[in-house]
Amino acid sequence: MTLDVEKIRKDFPILKSMANGKPLVYLDNAATAQKPRQVINAVSKHYKKSNANVHRGIYKLAEDATAQYIKSKETVAKFVGAESYRSVIYFRSTTEAINAVARAWGDVNVDKGDHILITEMEHHSNIVPWQMLAKRKEAVLDYVKVSDGKFLDHDDFVSKLSLKPKIVAFSHVSNVLGTINQAQEMTKMAHEAGSTVLIDGAQAVPHMPVNVSEINADFYAFSGHKMLGPSGIGVLYGSEEILEGMAPFHGGGDMIRTVDFQESTWNELPWKFEAGTQNIEGAIGLAAAIKYLKRLGMENVREHEKTLTSYALDRLSHAGVTIHGPGKEDMDKKAGVISFSMKGAHAHDIAQIFDSEGVAIRSGHHCAMPLVTKILNEPAVPRMSFYIYNTQAEIDTAIASLDKVREILKIQR
Ligand code: ALA
Repeated sequence: MTLDVEKIRKDFPILKSMANGKPLVYLDNAATAQKPRQVINAVSKHYKKSNANVHRGIYKLAEDATAQYIKSKETVAKFVGAESYRSVIYFRSTTEAINAVARAWGDVNVDKGDHILITEMEHHSNIVPWQMLAKRKEAVLDYVKVSDGKFLDHDDFVSKLSLKPKIVAFSHVSNVLGTINQAQEMTKMAHEAGSTVLIDGAQAVPHMPVNVSEINADFYAFSGHKMLGPSGIGVLYGSEEILEGMAPFHGGGDMIRTVDFQESTWNELPWKFEAGTQNIEGAIGLAAAIKYLKRLGMENVREHEKTLTSYALDRLSHAGVTIHGPGKEDMDKKAGVISFSMKGAHAHDIAQIFDSEGVAIRSGHHCAMPLVTKILNEPAVPRMSFYIYNTQAEIDTAIASLDKVREILKIQR
């Protein structure tokens, strides 16, 4: 079913804004998504009607807030196909979730000389925590190569797996190339090599159906703010078996069963990993965001973005730019993220000229410096990224902005 984009756009107050005197064209969805009134209202309603701390008070208001918080976890669990909410841990972000695994799992399971395997297409959030772990433990950090600036090199993956890495961590979807990695197949291969698997799903869960049980990864992380929800709430899915065996990442209130002057014992899952007062309004907003996405249908969300991406790739292929990542011929492995370069124009100049036309795109290394500077060989790239409310007309505005770039920077076609 195609999305009713005009109807969807009415739910997003910010899309009525002007930017530099032009109607806002928001094409920076890989950085963060805009929020529908259903999410804004859910958060606001919580503050107005049910604000109280969770798991603490025994009065009605606190019990209502606790029930909503647990309901949010059940909603997340169902949305990504997790067995139960016991596997759903809230952190601030995907980044914090990955750091938690690198610390709480990594410090116990990775020893001197062990291998850790990640890929050349990772976001800093899935590089730096592993570098830190490798330093702490004197472990070896290996990278699966990216071939043709598009896909992970299968043979290199096989060869690096033969080193029996303790953990394999990779992004489901690249935030720069838009490459969709074969998460299920890669997880199976990593498990056969005896590795534990973590997937960074920050760019996948908002945009396509994801089922963590089918993928069978041990850990899968994603963020609320990229999927219409509030900032400051990220999800770590972990298999119950592994989570049960792990020590907590943070210590404090609510994550304990008992505390004595010398020793403490831990609460049950998932609370063992959630110390201190949590982002309750974030959890409620995330549940509202999921309700919104489920109503649209994730298959339809993916189809809409596929259509937009394919249209944008077509238009860009006649626009005198170099497109990075998979192209039109690989639409099944391409998400709604397009980075490109224009000879003679710096990425930031392109983004600034787009901005003067009302078009918001991100430019830079996109928190994936090794990929952009070493693999794409660029200091920075501009990037367009799409979501449920974007239209072909908005892509036309973006493409027309490229003519403006040429005109201002005096670049010949
Ligand atoms: N990870 C976000 C991006 O790619 C911030 O822009």
